[in-house]
Amino acid sequence: MKFSSCIAAVAVIAGVNASPHPAYQQQDQQALGTTSSPSTTGYDQLKLEDIINDSPLLSLHRDLVKIESISGNEHDVGLFVAQFLESQNFTVVKQEVPPVKGQEDTKARYNIYAVPKSSTQPPSILLTSHIDTVPPFIPYSVRQPQDATSDPEDLIIAGRGSVDAKGSVAAQIFATLETLEENPDASLGLLFVVGEEIGGDGMHVFSDSKLNQKEAFKTLIFGEPTEAALVSGHKGMLGFQVLAHGSAAHSGYPWLGKSAVSAILPALSRVDILGNIPAEEGGLPASPKYGPTTLNIGKIRAGVATNVVPSEAMADVAVRLAEGTPEEARKIIQRAVEDATKDFEAEVVVDFKSHQESYPPQDLDVDVEGFDVATVNYGTDVPNLAVAASTKRYLYGPGSIFVAHGDNEALSVRQINEAVVGYKKLIQAAVDRDGQVA
Ligand SMILES: *[C@@H]1O[C@H](CO)[C@@H](O)[C@H](O)[C@H]1NC(C)=O
Ligand SMILES: [Zn+2]
Repeated sequence: MKFSSCIAAVAVIAGVNASPHPAYQQQDQQALGTTSSPSTTGYDQLKLEDIINDSPLLSLHRDLVKIESISGNEHDVGLFVAQFLESQNFTVVKQEVPPVKGQEDTKARYNIYAVPKSSTQPPSILLTSHIDTVPPFIPYSVRQPQDATSDPEDLIIAGRGSVDAKGSVAAQIFATLETLEENPDASLGLLFVVGEEIGGDGMHVFSDSKLNQKEAFKTLIFGEPTEAALVSGHKGMLGFQVLAHGSAAHSGYPWLGKSAVSAILPALSRVDILGNIPAEEGGLPASPKYGPTTLNIGKIRAGVATNVVPSEAMADVAVRLAEGTPEEARKIIQRAVEDATKDFEAEVVVDFKSHQESYPPQDLDVDVEGFDVATVNYGTDVPNLAVAASTKRYLYGPGSIFVAHGDNEALSVRQINEAVVGYKKLIQAAVDRDGQVA
């Protein structure tokens, strides 16, 4: 990206509102690493804004982050992405996704699916990420790092979604544009979905629709913060509730009731350590690739008052599966809870239906040279998109998951720029593979 040396002469007011970015200018593209650094070490705010304005990539990223798009409220960001891609000669499909439950009054939300206007076939290479974010909204900002250097590449860009996943969205769009500029015949498509942070309702809608050209999509490139590593896979996921039903009584006469808490405690103590117990002894299996299966009892609710024997108790549990299928894990969990509670009067049941989302560990492709390889512990939209058996799937993107949902969500200009290069490398490898097949 180009940091023009004449920026000081132009007093540009940074676009405060997200507005369609001026057309992507081919002649503005120049090789990374050839940017000229300003000579002073301190930037004032206007200068920082100029640096962003001067880069079409960073401007797009800014415009995306400035639009609040907490899951359920993706209307504006979706239309913005659609408009931007239309301005770049893409044919854009806005695929409506039903509103989030309880938010029926909010404006329509859309997955954005785009292919170059010139293409006659469905794309063979699809880049995809998500346009929703977790709450709360954090405004966009640019600053110099603490150890202020004069290199614009070191500038820090902060704000909700700056990393997860608008950094990926902007980098994927520019990697696609730059590839098409060099190779107009590259068979590329873009998909930006809603609702990734709340279970993937957007990707499910896409997956089940005619737009999911399973047989055509030979390569899928998912964008999430991976610190520019190629992710070899992530754990599976399974959720469940433990429910205990007893009967209430005065706490002075507990034998007259059946305590739901007394019964749920041993169940939960056992559930809590299932990831540490060897599989042969009834625990949940580990794997060399992903390490142990982990469980999180994230929510517990029980009882009404200290002087009443509680008749009801419930706990919500999330499992990150390192090995095996959700079906196998359900049996192990069921057996563990039965064993732990057989001596109690209150009834304890495991309810797997309350959390329908479940999937086994997701193995991904890493057969492109020049990347660090890592596994991650977070879930993605990868399992939500049905693909053909031979489809290659990659997971890659700028920024760190460790800041992704935090108050300090931020990444550097360098990380965004490098991600464009990384995505282009993954695209090129896919183009080369397609060439070999043809
Ligand atoms: C879009 O296509 C038109 C017509 O071919 C062309 O004139 C224009 O430069 C293209 N715009 C971009 C941004 O590539
Ligand atoms: Zn994400």
